[in-house]
Amino acid sequence: MNTDPMAEFKSKQRETWALGNFGDMAVFTTAVAGHLVRFAKVSGGQAVLDVGTGTGVVAITACRMGAKVTGLDLTPELLAQAREGAKVAGHDDIVWHEGDVEALPFPDACFDLVLSQFGHMFAPRPEVAVTEMLRVLNPGGMIAFATWPGEQLIGRQFSLIAKYVPPPQGVASPVQWGDVGIVRQRLGDGVTHLHYERGIMQIPALSPRHLRLFQEAKAGPFVRTVQALQHDPAKLEAWRNEMDEVLSEYMHDNVVRHEYLLTRAIKV
Ligand SMILES: C[S@@+](CC[C@H](N)C(=O)[O-])C[C@H]1O[C@@H](n2cnc3c(N)ncnc32)[C@H](O)[C@@H]1O
Repeated sequence: MNTDPMAEFKSKQRETWALGNFGDMAVFTTAVAGHLVRFAKVSGGQAVLDVGTGTGVVAITACRMGAKVTGLDLTPELLAQAREGAKVAGHDDIVWHEGDVEALPFPDACFDLVLSQFGHMFAPRPEVAVTEMLRVLNPGGMIAFATWPGEQLIGRQFSLIAKYVPPPQGVASPVQWGDVGIVRQRLGDGVTHLHYERGIMQIPALSPRHLRLFQEAKAGPFVRTVQALQHDPAKLEAWRNEMDEVLSEYMHDNVVRHEYLLTRAIKV
């Protein structure tokens, strides 16, 4: 039995992200990957690490730009999909690692660019994750990531999940990474040229309930929340009602439109 609460949390995270089918959600993160790769100025020959690669949308896009790419993720089931996706794209040369952003299995200063799209934000200890991401980066190299702002749709949905199924003590809220003040403080003196941009994710949907049911079927944290509330139907219904209410604020003309935050900075 695991007695380290952080190891236990990560083991649960691994199980959670394997639930549903994140590959179907990744249809929507694919467009963001194009934006992040352009924003991070990925170019040929760069050594690039994609942390929390999932099904590999950022890694495969960076490889298409000519970079030498390594993708790392906690969840082997998603890495298996990433390998398949890379094959389809003709990029068998991407190196895939099962691993944890809080303990990267790489030497110091071995990447030109460290990317993370909605990945490192799920590490329970942000200060450990950011120290690791900067450690493996060359001086003068770039760190760039996409995160969900707390005041936007996904941020608000994660807050609702935490309200109904509170995380263990000592686990930071992932959506803090969507706050530019907190991002600046976490990156600290180790970086310069901090720059932000926002983008809009668009998801077609016939009703708020359609999208919520899609999320409940496909995205691990939503699947897990339904499982956790299953024994208390009144609470589950209350969570679903609050989720639908939030979703309805972002739906216009059969499209749910919501913002993400991009950050980039140069390691000193
Ligand atoms: C929302 S998905 C994003 C996947 C992909 N980057 C994308 O944009 O489609 C979050 C990913 O972070 C991974 N993850 C969560 N905690 C992690 C950790 N501590 N270390 C590495 N990966 C982690 C999950 O396994 C999952 O694949």
